[in-house]
Amino acid sequence: MQYLDFRSDTVTLPTDNMRKAMYGAVVGDDVYGDDPTVKLLEEKSAAILGKEAALFVPSGTFGNQLAVLTHTKRGDEVILGDACHIVMHEVGAAALISGVQLRQVPTINGLMNARDIERMIRTKDIHYPDTGLICIENAHSNGTVIKLSDMKTVYEIAKHHHIPVHLDGARIFNASCALGVDAAQIAAYSDSVMFCLSKGLCAPIGSMLVGDAAFIERARKNRKLLGGGMRQAGVIAAAGIVALDEMVSRLSDDHELAKMMAEALSGIEGIIVMEDRTHINMVFCKIKLKGSEEAFVEALLSEGIKINGSEDGEFRFVTNYWTNRSAVEKLITVIRNIMEA
Ligand SMILES: Cc1ncc(COP(=O)(O)O)c(C=O)c1O
Repeated sequence: MQYLDFRSDTVTLPTDNMRKAMYGAVVGDDVYGDDPTVKLLEEKSAAILGKEAALFVPSGTFGNQLAVLTHTKRGDEVILGDACHIVMHEVGAAALISGVQLRQVPTINGLMNARDIERMIRTKDIHYPDTGLICIENAHSNGTVIKLSDMKTVYEIAKHHHIPVHLDGARIFNASCALGVDAAQIAAYSDSVMFCLSKGLCAPIGSMLVGDAAFIERARKNRKLLGGGMRQAGVIAAAGIVALDEMVSRLSDDHELAKMMAEALSGIEGIIVMEDRTHINMVFCKIKLKGSEEAFVEALLSEGIKINGSEDGEFRFVTNYWTNRSAVEKLITVIRNIMEA
């Protein structure tokens, strides 16, 4: 059965052009610096984000954790939002790998209050850890996009205190599309950025860590330490190049479909859509089910539709390259039928 998959944009399959590029990729041993395709992807990524250098890494989690490890020393404190990916969905890796403490700022819709951040920055005191890093997430995995002015405020506070800023930009191109600005304008308010090739951009594997040349040189050594030095990685980098060349400009289609889905779902009795959080390709909603959640997920599956169970009481439906308008219409019809049954 051919499923319609709304679980995430991570489920996207590579496009035909990606498969062709992977087949024909010129490769070499990237740990020796011999892979021209990886080098091209790194140069392209750095140029697009307006930074000096970039590094190809296996995943978004790897890129975030590599950034934390490279920016900090053991015992440092990292300030970040309480609902961000690094806190919620990275298996507690920052404590294990970098030996840092995560100081969580309470957030509303993913947004950290600048005054809270300022208050949490440590002063010199024999009892205190050093504040080693501030992390921001944009677009946030709760579906929201942070405005440039809010990013600027955080960056200025960080710079005033000589603290680096890392941006989890797994979906930076969704954020740039939603804000109508270049990704480089968002990246300008950070010292390092991780972004994913393997989500809405459809590449099968890989993320990029970008920053200044000295930071990326240190990150390259730390990537080796973590076992992330990949050999003929040009085979997968080739798909990443297609992702950047061909898939960024179409993200607006995913956003449009998500808005259409949000509107249609909010018209169904028993469904409350978080419309103030429908900024990108994600729709979050609370669904008052008559039966069990398992039965709901199962009923959709029997109609050829994959969704995840709820998290914190909310379901999430994600649009992507492979979920076109008719797929979204089918999702809405099936949900409406279940709710009206
Ligand atoms: C905001 C954010 N950061 C980081 C990641 C981690 O990416 P990966 O799944 O490639 O490790 C994700 C994954 O969904 C994400 O949504």
